[in-house]
Amino acid sequence: MNKQIAKSIAEVFNQQLSVDEIEHLLEKPRTLELGDVAFPCFTLAKTWKKSPQSIAADIANQLKSDDIQRVEAVGGYVNIFLNQQQVTQHVLSNILHEKHLYGTNQTAMGRVVLDFSSPNIAKPFSMGHLRSTVIGNALANIATKNGYQAIRINHLGDWGTQFGKLIVAYHYWGDKQAITASPIEELLKIYVKFHEKAEQDPTLNEQARAAFKALEDGDEEALALWQWFRDVSLVEFQTIYQLLGIDFDAFTGEAFYNDKMTAVVAELKDKELLVESDGAYVVELDNMPPCLITKTDGATLYATRDLAAAFYRQQHYQPEKIFYVVGNEQSLHFKQLFQVIDKMGYAWANHLHHVPFGMMLKDGKKMSTRKGKVVLLADVLKEAIATAKHNIEEKNPHLPNKEQVAQQVGVGAVIFNDLKYHRQNDIEFSIEQMMNFEGETGPYVQYTYARLCSILEKVEVPSHDVTLEVLGEQAWPIILLLEQFPNVVVTAFEQADPSLIAKFALQLARLLNKYYAQHKILADDAQQTSRIALCYCVAIILKESLTLLGIESPANM
Ligand code: ARG
Repeated sequence: MNKQIAKSIAEVFNQQLSVDEIEHLLEKPRTLELGDVAFPCFTLAKTWKKSPQSIAADIANQLKSDDIQRVEAVGGYVNIFLNQQQVTQHVLSNILHEKHLYGTNQTAMGRVVLDFSSPNIAKPFSMGHLRSTVIGNALANIATKNGYQAIRINHLGDWGTQFGKLIVAYHYWGDKQAITASPIEELLKIYVKFHEKAEQDPTLNEQARAAFKALEDGDEEALALWQWFRDVSLVEFQTIYQLLGIDFDAFTGEAFYNDKMTAVVAELKDKELLVESDGAYVVELDNMPPCLITKTDGATLYATRDLAAAFYRQQHYQPEKIFYVVGNEQSLHFKQLFQVIDKMGYAWANHLHHVPFGMMLKDGKKMSTRKGKVVLLADVLKEAIATAKHNIEEKNPHLPNKEQVAQQVGVGAVIFNDLKYHRQNDIEFSIEQMMNFEGETGPYVQYTYARLCSILEKVEVPSHDVTLEVLGEQAWPIILLLEQFPNVVVTAFEQADPSLIAKFALQLARLLNKYYAQHKILADDAQQTSRIALCYCVAIILKESLTLLGIESPANM
């Protein structure tokens, strides 16, 4: 719609300003009484040496289009009132026709690789990993809606010196049965114990170094243990992914790049980027500390593996973009990584994006997994599901598929809570708040959707070429919002910001509930068909928004 209006304004200007420039200037007036769209003339006043008022008046006099009802010039603004009949007809017919594909880009845009979740083997799945998982999955969905093929990659932390420690710890204190029964808890226990004991007995650290060296040299026993730690940890991670409903295209962790680093290191050397520093090798960078590539003993690091991973992905997938959904604390790491690739002379360094996010807080403090004080994500999800179950027992005890709905609502609440603020914000974790049916929550949006489903169950949905009526003051903002959905989908991708979709869903639910409180949807009058069409369209877009966020929409709850 904004594009249409921008086009009409461009005509008035005899194309002295481009449609894009004009579209960029368009604003949403503070209240709908001031119009549906506003065009401010202040910046033009300077270039054209005319007062903003007179520019606005000129435009107002000449602006004409089917979509525009009337135009007013007020205080340097052109206030545009849309033709409600036209726009209502246009927007609702489109949604009735396209259904959940409304706002979907049907042109193939190439691939986007998303590196997200990426927990560490033998360590608990932290709240930071939850954030990465939920944000990364939503971004992958949003990328798909924008026409990209999303490749979901889990860059497991399955290599590094900690495996030397774990192998030594296992030799001393490992209990095979206990580990099989509850792998991550037990492995963490012996890992913590290793650190405690190593404080008194420094030879433990040497043993761990030797064990990791053996692992890197392909020692069979060490490799078998490593493989076992990895397998059992992965089984536990998979239960979480199943609960969250997330699939990956590849679990190519750090170890996957073991045989791919030599080539990259050789290329760095060839390009004379590798500098020796006390026996270690680094790449020197501009405006930041050097990137450590190999240690004194020749061992590679996290960054070396990420470097190899970037090259592998670029060659293997030839993506348009690669997103790394990883917490703020790794910002420097990614800046270094990207600059190394840039210094190697690869233009695709520009396609690499770190998508950082803030912390998850509990009572204002970081939720920590250190020193045994573990908040297990699996427990958090269980608690949310139990709360949802409890609510269902209270409100809707005869619901047939309670277990399933409780899971959809509990998990949905956790995901929505994570996505409703801009990812850079730290977020407070409170099960009670995220489950509140009346708050800004997942269950609130889900409940609005279920309510619509129960109305729509009783009626036939209008076809998309039916003539629709203007539905009046409370419906108009809903129509305008629905009209914006395709734009929101685009911006959410461009800014890698799923919270735009979450906020959109909240606002749509809020407006719908307001409308619902004041109108009898099924009243037998001339506007019935249009009201049903409106409800149906809102239901579709609410569900699509939740789907983009990775949240299910039960029809009954
Ligand atoms: N395993 C890492 C961690 O838990 C995250 C990996 C992120 N991805 C990457 N390509 N470095 O901190």
